[in-house]
Amino acid sequence: MQLVKAKDYQELCRMAAERIIGKVKRARNIKLGLATGGTPTGVYRELIEDHRKNGTSYRHVTTFNLDEYVGLSPEHPSSYHYYMNKNLFEHIDIPKEKTYLPNGMSADLEAECRRYETLIEAEGGIDIQILGIGLNGHIGFNEPGTPFDSLTHVVQLAETTREANSRYFGSPDEVPTHAVTMGIGTIMKSREILLLVNGRNKADILRRLFEEKVTEQLPASVLKTHPHVTIIADEEACSRLY
Ligand code: F6R
Repeated sequence: MQLVKAKDYQELCRMAAERIIGKVKRARNIKLGLATGGTPTGVYRELIEDHRKNGTSYRHVTTFNLDEYVGLSPEHPSSYHYYMNKNLFEHIDIPKEKTYLPNGMSADLEAECRRYETLIEAEGGIDIQILGIGLNGHIGFNEPGTPFDSLTHVVQLAETTREANSRYFGSPDEVPTHAVTMGIGTIMKSREILLLVNGRNKADILRRLFEEKVTEQLPASVLKTHPHVTIIADEEACSRLY
């Protein structure tokens, strides 16, 4: 894992966006793995601004999101479909049919998980996967204890995760209890991984990531076994690193 330190969130977003834009420009056909949540919103803003100013095109790009809540339709304002449309897809020239997220409304969620996994494989796998990290070290919605070889699956969300995400819902009770997420095995198949960590509230988990051994109790620790991981973290997130 290579650590790149950014002064603040803005610099982190610029650095991450530069890497993504560089790849989008160079490749004739590229598969991006995307995340939602608070961390990547500034990165998506940078991508949109660059698209507007410099005309970087996303016509040849395919995207796969990490996860989606079970039971929320794409029109639900707290769904990840909605988040991606509003925060990125509606503002760039990516073909809508090449933006994939798991379908949390599927009547057969097990079949949906297999379909999503197969789809990623069929598209040739993910070139670069963007990740955030949960306060408990989760990546995607893979909570502590998830097997490292897990593929796309249905998860029951940890109460701490539901609480952290309740800011996107009217009330904590409205946060779904389950989600469909790429597994840790799915994420690890990505050719390159970019983990973004910002803010003082992530300082402790970033310290744990560096200090603790590789264990399923700390899902992000698996990244130490991947050959091509870059962590971009701001000063606040790095404040407990020695
Ligand atoms: C989002 C995702 C999650 C978040 C993580 C951090 O698609 O899969 O793992 O990346 O919960 O969330 P924020 O960025 O809101 O702190």
